[in-house]
Amino acid sequence: MATDVVILAAGRGTRMKSRLPKVLHCLAGRPLLQHVVDAGNDLKTARIIIVTGHESEKVRSAINGEALFYVEQKQPLGTAHAVQQAVPEIRSDATVLILYGDVPLIQPATIQTMVDMAADGSLVLLTVLLGDPSGYGRIIRDQAQEVVAIVEEKDASQQQLDICEVNTGVMALPAEKLKNWLPVIDNKNAQQEYYLTDLISLAHQHHYKIKTLQPLFPQEVEGVNNRSQLSRLERYYQRQHSEQLMLAGVTIADPDRVDVRGKLTAGIDNYIDVNVVFEGDVQLGNNVSIGPNCLIINSRIADGAEIKANSIVEGSLVGPDCVVGPFARLRAGTEMAESAKIGNFVETKNSSLGKGTKINHLSYVGDACLGANVNIGAGTITCNYDGLNKHRTTIGDNAFIGSNTSLVAPVTIGKNATVGAGSTITCDVPDGELGLTRAKQQNIEGWKRPGKNDESLQ
Ligand code: UD1
Ligand code: CA
Repeated sequence: MATDVVILAAGRGTRMKSRLPKVLHCLAGRPLLQHVVDAGNDLKTARIIIVTGHESEKVRSAINGEALFYVEQKQPLGTAHAVQQAVPEIRSDATVLILYGDVPLIQPATIQTMVDMAADGSLVLLTVLLGDPSGYGRIIRDQAQEVVAIVEEKDASQQQLDICEVNTGVMALPAEKLKNWLPVIDNKNAQQEYYLTDLISLAHQHHYKIKTLQPLFPQEVEGVNNRSQLSRLERYYQRQHSEQLMLAGVTIADPDRVDVRGKLTAGIDNYIDVNVVFEGDVQLGNNVSIGPNCLIINSRIADGAEIKANSIVEGSLVGPDCVVGPFARLRAGTEMAESAKIGNFVETKNSSLGKGTKINHLSYVGDACLGANVNIGAGTITCNYDGLNKHRTTIGDNAFIGSNTSLVAPVTIGKNATVGAGSTITCDVPDGELGLTRAKQQNIEGWKRPGKNDESLQ
């Protein structure tokens, strides 16, 4: 059966105190609404209808997904009014699932179960038992324990306020019923809003079957209203992620000090030290070690590689048994073959290093292709930019570049060639030859350094 997911995201999110719409604030590097859309996209037959209001354009351009439809709620007149805006996009034979754009951790398994439970035409409500139910709509049950209504806190009697089973807002029901009942809902309540929760009493009056389900864990249905709640959910998410990694064979020095903002895949026997952040798509092989304070973005790190403390690796490929850092910066397009080394205070960009090649300290290597077993001395710079264009530097296998060399691209250093320390290389160096541009050293015999007792100073 078809499933149409309606995601309510029209709220202003005033309590975030932000210019950014609330649903675009990020959790684990993804906008809150993107989490919900991704969960909805997991339901294979889903069409996703997002109700936006505040800053709709910004929201639309920030969210990706399949089968997305947008509708606008011009004025926030309540959750039923919001869903009403989506009705023209809802297929009449579908099961409708209502989700909230600011409840990011809703699990695909939970909503799949709800959709399955609604397949017989029932109304399915996700409820949760809370120690402190304040702020939420309370679930009212009759003596037979059947749900008969939801009462919003502002409309509740003292006795109803004591009820700890609350409405998460998430529900599933047949499109046909939704379309029939929505127009009947009025706004005669304390907030003068059109409450979606009034569907429950309507369903009950029509002797309609109402089923309930509980989430897998309470955080799944927690909403984000302010930045403090956002950080709580972020920490919960990261902790869960660390637990999964550890159970999958990764040693983590402190599971509360690793953040994954994207997708991390990892083999076994990896070690992750404290304060490591992963962004985008990162793949770790086996036996990879990542030292403290590293930032790894959209990169692949092969078996046995070691990233030492305080390194940044972005858009790069680190080959097997390579060593990076400490204090290295690998920018986009860095590709290291097996056992290559990039050491401290080295910046690389759009460059490949052959097997066993070393850039051990204090260098900038950009737009370069280095063969195997090349040794780059400290302070070597590829001068790849002439102010207008970028040029390439090519260095053959077994070449040796002396310290403090400027390689003015485009330039090629041949295989087994050597460049003397302190050279500025503007022409190619053929295979096996020595390139040297150093001024010749002079020693002045009998020269005296001016001293304190020097007569000329008195
Ligand atoms: C709602 C439920 C309450 C439930 C709680 C769970 C109603 C009447 N009440 O209350 O039973 O316990 O959620 O968190 O449904 N929104 C719109 N347009 C509107 C109003 C709201 O898009 O006109 C969106 C908001 O952006 C938000 C969601 O709907 O994502 C919930 O709205 P909110 O005002 O936070 O509802 P609550 O009062 O918390
Ligand atoms: Ca809310």
